[in-house]
Amino acid sequence: MTAETRETEVLVVGAGIAGLAAALAADRAGAEVTLATKASRPESASTWWAQGGIAVSRDDPAQFKRDIIEASAGAADPDAVDVLVDNADSAVRDVLVDTIGVEFDTNGEGFDYGQEAAHEEPRILHVEAATGKHVHVPFLNYIADRTDVTVLEDTAGLELLRHEGEVYGAMLECNGEVTPTYAGATVLATGGIGALYPRSTNPADATGDGIAMAALAGADIADMEYVQFHPTAYVGDDAGDGFLVSEAVRGEGAVLRNADGERFMPDYHEDADLAPRDVVARAVTAERDATGEVVLDVSPLAFEREFPSLAEKCHDAGVDLPHVPVAPAEHFLCGGIDVDDRGRSSLGRLYAVGECARTGVHGANRLASTSLLEGLVWGLRAGEDAVGNEVRGLEPPELLDRDPDLPGNFAAGKFHRLRRVMDEQVGVERTSDGLGRAQSVLRRLKGEVDAYARTRTSRSLYELRSASVVALLVARAAAENGESVGCHYLVDGDERAEQAGVTADTP
Ligand code: SIN
Repeated sequence: MTAETRETEVLVVGAGIAGLAAALAADRAGAEVTLATKASRPESASTWWAQGGIAVSRDDPAQFKRDIIEASAGAADPDAVDVLVDNADSAVRDVLVDTIGVEFDTNGEGFDYGQEAAHEEPRILHVEAATGKHVHVPFLNYIADRTDVTVLEDTAGLELLRHEGEVYGAMLECNGEVTPTYAGATVLATGGIGALYPRSTNPADATGDGIAMAALAGADIADMEYVQFHPTAYVGDDAGDGFLVSEAVRGEGAVLRNADGERFMPDYHEDADLAPRDVVARAVTAERDATGEVVLDVSPLAFEREFPSLAEKCHDAGVDLPHVPVAPAEHFLCGGIDVDDRGRSSLGRLYAVGECARTGVHGANRLASTSLLEGLVWGLRAGEDAVGNEVRGLEPPELLDRDPDLPGNFAAGKFHRLRRVMDEQVGVERTSDGLGRAQSVLRRLKGEVDAYARTRTSRSLYELRSASVVALLVARAAAENGESVGCHYLVDGDERAEQAGVTADTP
């Protein structure tokens, strides 16, 4: 089951925009690069699913920085924001426009900049509301056809190879065969954690693998309580049928209505339907609870003409336009593997980029259309930095595969339990008691999964292990943060803050 070893100067795990950018930069710098991806189809990466677009600074970088910091509830790291914005336009121009040839929408006067919530001005480059696939497919093709990067599809990272605070590669699995892959540097770009929630805008296998591998290897992890929920995902008949209905649709004039047909967002926030995402997500939840349904009314715009891909999805799903039934869905993890301005983690030779990384750009809440940009900018910087380390072979850990068969439905059953507790206790709204209960359930679940993982190496078991490690990290971080901030909303937050104040002041 363990095959020959493999060696590479730079190992990138994950093939969304961040992993592709890291591979491109390392290849440009002359390194030998191996890119491993669980995916065998482009749509298995979150990048492919991105709708809105990619924000750029246009003529006012200072305003772009202010918008990011304000959306982050003041919690973004200003130095990280400087890195993002100061590199935004050049990275987009160099890689997306000049290298892979993305044709962003234009309007006769130049780029057709889109508007989304919490942006002071229209600054979003897009290809209608299907930007992700128009970036991802040409980027994958470019890496495959025009670089020397070796791409390993259908290949998952199971464990990092670590020795004395440094990472020397990873155990990679393909078709049940595990290959220790030694690397001078390892770049994790494994994406988000949508699989931890019943309703998510991520692809189904976003199980947080990179974060779990890094955490188990001892890397610093930060800001895990900041899970962003997108307010408008089509609800579908089953949670799995849903899809994102881009904020750009509200940017063009669509409005939310409750089951009584009332526009409710003006009662919740002065920016109404374009209020910050966490505010809209909680309002949609409250109105769904109170009236039974919330719809996005797209009648104020020429929906089919302006958003043809989304309109087609709505038709395919049998949506009775102009009213799209919507609910919040897990969308983006602002926290993750703690990294610096070049994507370097707290472990030597280990980098993290894209959604699995915590760069500090998003603070407690992410500004729309900055995730592709962050992946691109940090991917390029990490890929460049990762070059030039010697490959060192080590004794790989022994992964046992004594009992290959899992009990029937084992992974599906445990995932079901995990998603339920995350949805009920670690979702849009949280309580201290609920977070305590969630941690107990998740600790038990992780223990059960670990027991199986000791003697088996199946991918589904490792994905479940990743999900249980990451779920526990999210629940624990949420329980430890007694303050409602950004997308971490504690229903009993004021009470807790008061108690903490009383305790602190009490002699
Ligand atoms: C959207 O299109 O609404 C999503 C944009 C984003 O999350 O950045």
